[in-house]
Amino acid sequence: MKTIRIRDREERESTIVCRKNVFSAVLAPLGAQLPEGGGMLFTDANVYALYRAQIERSLGGVPCFVMPAGEANKNENTLFSLLKEMRKAELRRNSLLIALGGGVVGDLGGLAASLYMRGISCMQVPTTLLAQVDSSVGGKTAVDFCGVKNLIGAFSPAARVEVDPAFLQTLPRRELRCGLGEIVKHGALSAPLFEKLLSAPDLFDLSFLAQIVPENIAFKASVVRRDPHERDLRKCLNLGHTTAHALELGGCGLSHGECVLWGLILESRLAVRHCGGDKKFAERLSALCFSALEGGTLPPLDVENARLDKKNASSDRVTLAVPVAPERYELLELPFAQYAKELSEVAKEC
Ligand SMILES: NC(=O)c1ccc[n+]([C@@H]2O[C@H](COP(=O)([O-])OP(=O)(O)OC[C@H]3O[C@@H](n4cnc5c(N)ncnc54)[C@H](O)[C@@H]3O)[C@@H](O)[C@H]2O)c1
Repeated sequence: MKTIRIRDREERESTIVCRKNVFSAVLAPLGAQLPEGGGMLFTDANVYALYRAQIERSLGGVPCFVMPAGEANKNENTLFSLLKEMRKAELRRNSLLIALGGGVVGDLGGLAASLYMRGISCMQVPTTLLAQVDSSVGGKTAVDFCGVKNLIGAFSPAARVEVDPAFLQTLPRRELRCGLGEIVKHGALSAPLFEKLLSAPDLFDLSFLAQIVPENIAFKASVVRRDPHERDLRKCLNLGHTTAHALELGGCGLSHGECVLWGLILESRLAVRHCGGDKKFAERLSALCFSALEGGTLPPLDVENARLDKKNASSDRVTLAVPVAPERYELLELPFAQYAKELSEVAKEC
């Protein structure tokens, strides 16, 4: 068992516990003795179908709201449906919302908990690799709105996060790759993790992943602790993401994680051109990304899509957090036209 604590500027503490048997060790005792104000379980249809028996055994008497799975449902309609169910269940100021699922459930549940009666406690039980190493750490919650990803949200850390590697056993390989995108990004910013990833015989091996999940959480927590509201240092967590969003918003058919892996490959090459980036490091990082991608080709790039990213919406220039050397990144600012030209040049090298 490993415990990691994060305290933000408002002194709100989030305790993240990595352990096995979350249903019997945590949820069953909780179901038997909820806080005075009661509680509610929030999950999605896929997770509910896979874990129904364990949910019923541990949280049988607890009201439950099941959302349809998928990013398309991370919106105001599901948010308000959830808030209505919380009201029907007569949750009170001292109630607990348990969000069991991937990043979509965590982001929605966290936001609903922060809004209901101006804030009730939330426990996240992340069930995807991405949610375990990334979205459940750091207190960002949101829904997509008016076609813009994560437009409405709040910084509102879950009081408790329970991370159980057993959930990864049912996760499709493509969803594991989504988490690997963020893990490789963390590796570019943490030399010991980078070396571990490079020497892993199989990045998808579940016992290897179970071993490195706590290290990834600890890394992200160390960044969040120093910059809880994404003013400065936390921008390093956007490594590879601007180009990833340009790919993603173009409807290329790749998942977010696959786009992040391509984004890291392409942006490490831009770093060599513009920031004195270490060529050997760029090659090693690319090799790691290619093994997580397991082949596949880069789809055609239309960087105009980067303008749709809200972070670049108001400018003719684009700012990228690019990987320069082990544990080093730089913010690279380029005019859009130059970014487009150079990106297509480095893409041809892949
Ligand atoms: N808050 C943050 O800091 C932060 C950081 C990164 C990403 N995010 C958000 O996270 C979301 C993506 O998260 P995600 O990749 O977990 O997506 P997701 O929640 O949609 O889960 C991916 C798929 O896996 C299924 N699933 C979940 N757990 C499973 C399991 N154990 N076995 C089998 N299937 C399972 C889900 O039903 C879904 O179909 C995005 O909305 C993104 O914006 C938030």
